[in-house]
Amino acid sequence: MAGGVVLVQGASRGLGLHFCKHLLSARKEARVIATCRSPETASALQALHGLYPQNLTVLRLDATREAEIREAAEVVAKEHGRLDLLINSGAVLHPSARGETSLQEVSAEGLSITLATNTIGPLVMAKYFAPLLRKGTGAFGHQFADQAKQHRAVLVNLTAKVGSIGDNATPSEDPTTSATPSEAHSPARLLMLYMPSCASSAPLPCTLAKPDSPY
Ligand SMILES: NC(=O)c1ccc[n+]([C@@H]2O[C@H](COP(=O)([O-])OP(=O)(O)OC[C@H]3O[C@@H](n4cnc5c(N)ncnc54)[C@H](OP(=O)(O)O)[C@@H]3O)[C@@H](O)[C@H]2O)c1
Repeated sequence: MAGGVVLVQGASRGLGLHFCKHLLSARKEARVIATCRSPETASALQALHGLYPQNLTVLRLDATREAEIREAAEVVAKEHGRLDLLINSGAVLHPSARGETSLQEVSAEGLSITLATNTIGPLVMAKYFAPLLRKGTGAFGHQFADQAKQHRAVLVNLTAKVGSIGDNATPSEDPTTSATPSEAHSPARLLMLYMPSCASSAPLPCTLAKPDSPY
């Protein structure tokens, strides 16, 4: 119970890596499971494992591969039997690694990879980890005094302002050269449609967190 069990998906670098660093330093008894596509080349994550060999476990997980998600959930079930916090931080802006706003540059393959990683991945993560989250101990997040409102676990899906349809609604002057929303823009709305159904059978706060948002 003390410290909590956390899984950070997409932890090789960026925010995911920093979530792991923060959790390990701030919660001495936390058990952190860091997942990434390629543990053998995730040098910063491996260095972190060297600092916290008892508290940090590194697992292979590509968010576009359902079998790897299922296998990771099986490992967590076997090792911990529960999960208190799941952070989906893995994401791609675009397979080219740069933002794409030109309709002429949109490709079916690029859209597929972006959606598979940013939108379908977190949904499939929820599918396999929800049973473990429902067994959580409420170790993370603000708890209400009213027991009826208390949660057992927290599921966080990182997104960005550019992923907001509402915040990117300015119509394009020339729809043939500038697409809004771009390839990266739809995941947040799609997740908002599906995630409530994941949380409906148990008190499971599900948050779309923008790093620049106040919560
Ligand atoms: N950083 C910011 O200031 C900021 C601001 C606003 C919003 N955000 C949001 O926060 C989230 C994370 O951003 P970031 O800055 O940390 O990005 P990042 O530095 O580009 O890191 C992306 C992470 O996602 C992983 N990843 C990519 N495809 C994957 C897949 N198929 N399966 C599993 N992992 C995969 C990468 O792993 P590999 O090493 O294997 O490529 C990497 O660890 C994104 O949703 C982003 O929009 C970040």
